[in-house]
Amino acid sequence: MDILIIGGGGREHALAYALKKSPKVEKIYCLPGNGGISQIAECAPIGVMEFDKIIEFLKQHPSIGITVVGPDDPLAAGIVDELQKHGFKAFGPCKEAAMIEGSKSFAKNLMKKYNIPTASYEVFDDYHKAREYAKQSSFPLVVKADGLALGKGVIICNNLKEAENALYDIMVAERFGKAGKKVVVEEYIAGKEVSILAFCDGKTIKPMVSSQDHKRVFDDDKGLNTGGMGAFSPTPIYTPEVADKVYNSIILPTLNAMKAEGLKFKGVLYFGLIINEEGIHVLEYNARFGDPETQVVLPLLKTDLFDIIQAIIDERLDQTEIEWLDKAAVCVMLASGGYPLEYQKGYKINIGKLDDDIILFHSGTKKTDSEFRTSGGRVLGVTAVKDSVEEARKAVYGNISKINFEGMHYRKDIGIKND
Ligand code: GLY
Repeated sequence: MDILIIGGGGREHALAYALKKSPKVEKIYCLPGNGGISQIAECAPIGVMEFDKIIEFLKQHPSIGITVVGPDDPLAAGIVDELQKHGFKAFGPCKEAAMIEGSKSFAKNLMKKYNIPTASYEVFDDYHKAREYAKQSSFPLVVKADGLALGKGVIICNNLKEAENALYDIMVAERFGKAGKKVVVEEYIAGKEVSILAFCDGKTIKPMVSSQDHKRVFDDDKGLNTGGMGAFSPTPIYTPEVADKVYNSIILPTLNAMKAEGLKFKGVLYFGLIINEEGIHVLEYNARFGDPETQVVLPLLKTDLFDIIQAIIDERLDQTEIEWLDKAAVCVMLASGGYPLEYQKGYKINIGKLDDDIILFHSGTKKTDSEFRTSGGRVLGVTAVKDSVEEARKAVYGNISKINFEGMHYRKDIGIKND
């Protein structure tokens, strides 16, 4: 069967990489894809929100049996419903179920109603009321735009001035457009973050190996938030005891909550967790594979990803055994100069002879004739799978020295603080 992947980042490259291994997958297409993906899939310049063009593409390529959707925006906008309406099979949640990511207030209210541990919060659609609430709160305080905001809608405020600015930006200046019509204002919880992605067919949920993202741009978690500067898997803090506790108090209750609300979640449900001495709380849900978590999780998957996707679509995940390599993976993102603020594109990427077992996931690249050029903020994810995080880390950093482009920067500490 042929497969279509929607998206054009490192996550989609990792999806293409995993699906390429399946003997059941003949050809992979990707819209719009990127330079690296174009080496293993046929790409075409169609954007992830261009539903009409995607449907036209599927009509012109009848050998495509399943469309796998990577990013959040098309899922929240109902791409899966739209494709199904036209008779095409798609992997990902329908619009209503994708609200678990697309509306922060929906997710928080769901957790409150079904006793799933999360930070205390209030929802506001009135700027003045939100400001009054902030005045009576202790700090830090977290202000979240209700809707999707390109990963920039969560602001940690250290004092009242910062909270007032965040509320003004989101609700009055409409920095994120309609996504900021409502806000969630919540208590800040300090602790260690763990990402748990889980396969879910609406009836059964099966967590993947744990991973940890690094969102800040500089070492030691300093600087601005980014789309993710690197990840490793598994995370030692996520012991089998912690995993059991999370499964019983968070993962299964979330599936049951969605069922009770009449929502069938089919796809990948992502649990962003925070762990401290007081317990484990849900920071956020995502309705998709994480980026860059996918780049460390999928290389550890032993089971054929195509079989899992097929089982989810057919709602027989309960009969599917999912196996993982007893190994560790590290991915370090190489970013454009200036990222996550303004950056230039179009620089030539020089790639020397990398070790054979290094996996280079492309995020923001374009292929022109025989060379790659930068085309995004996050450019490449250098990834290694080894027996331990330490070995994988050494392999990744040993190979980064063979890659360069104008302005390239990256964190030097991915996988060091792995406790
Ligand atoms: N790594 C965080 C995300 O995918 O949203």
